[in-house]
Amino acid sequence: MVQQSGVIITGSGSATPATVLNNQSFSQLVDTSDEWIRSRTGIGSRRLATTAESLSSIASAAGREAIAMAGITPAEIDLILLATSSADDLFGSACQVQARLGASNAVAFDLTAACSGFVFGMVTAAQYIRTGVYQNVLLIGADVLSRWVDWEDRRTCVLFGDGAGAVVMQADKRDRLLGFELKSDGTENHCLNLSYQGNPKQLMDGVEVTQGTYQPITMNGKEVYRFAVQRVPEVIDKALFRANLTVDNIDWLLLHQANQRILDAVADRLKIPAHKVISNLAHYGNTSAASIPLALDEAVRQGQVQPNHIIAASGFGAGLTWGAAIFQWK
Ligand code: ACO
Repeated sequence: MVQQSGVIITGSGSATPATVLNNQSFSQLVDTSDEWIRSRTGIGSRRLATTAESLSSIASAAGREAIAMAGITPAEIDLILLATSSADDLFGSACQVQARLGASNAVAFDLTAACSGFVFGMVTAAQYIRTGVYQNVLLIGADVLSRWVDWEDRRTCVLFGDGAGAVVMQADKRDRLLGFELKSDGTENHCLNLSYQGNPKQLMDGVEVTQGTYQPITMNGKEVYRFAVQRVPEVIDKALFRANLTVDNIDWLLLHQANQRILDAVADRLKIPAHKVISNLAHYGNTSAASIPLALDEAVRQGQVQPNHIIAASGFGAGLTWGAAIFQWK
């Protein structure tokens, strides 16, 4: 009989490409300015993957760090979950990550939920651990959206950056995932897309397929902004309720790093003071599924997040999807 178990988060890691693109450089591409980008988004620069880098390479680097911090070996990992919307291979990149890490005993697959991918992944990993199926899970959030940005669209190209973050989640007597809530609303899917567009191709009489590729990201920024500011506080409140906690118990608010104005507005609505809000988007922009674990790893390594601290994490984005997870570090 499988033994029910608790979940603890024992390691974090992150990796970003070395190439830095600052706001000033954008004036060579589109009609914009450092002042506009900084004041509307809080972003100052972002990292971009070059031809020598891939989604798998940065995801593996982040995963390696998380495994080292957890004090285990790659061979001890049972499951690798790769949250991404920009896999190197549409069939999935988790297996490439498994091979790069030498995690030969792990089953590996991709999970796509855009910028909510890490929070959705954390809850998915917890289900495998709590039911006693797996003991050691490597959860990676990674995206290389520079591949899919329209570099001529100033409304979107200034927002995104590339990166990867990871955590190791393990079975334990204690349960540190205190509460969660996940949501989806496909009726608002049109607000944010990276969608396939095919052209008809006649194979033979009466048989037609489509062949094409994915189109660059399109986004209704105002709608997504309104959605995030309204829905994220609701979902955090719900997750806190499930955890039997209140906002006063939160040590850190860790939101998907999309826009500083969204971070400020959500904190304001929840009455969480600014010094409890983790923010690194000034340096990385919106790294999609990577943003939460990347910011977490920096906060852990800088000594801000300490063992037993309670973190309210919330992701939101395309789908539309949104969700929150309340967890204790270590
Ligand atoms: N530089 C200069 N001007 C710009 C730029 C730019 N980079 N981008 C837009 N503008 C212009 C617009 O063209 C518009 O000009 P107009 O009035 O002459 O038409 C004006 O600025 C205002 O544009 P808005 O879109 O209304 O600007 P807004 O204040 O809403 O800010 C932003 C745009 C930053 C995108 C904001 O709406 C936002 O952050 N939305 C949320 C995005 C988000 O959080 N996405 C997360 C999910 S991502 C995922 O899931 C993959």
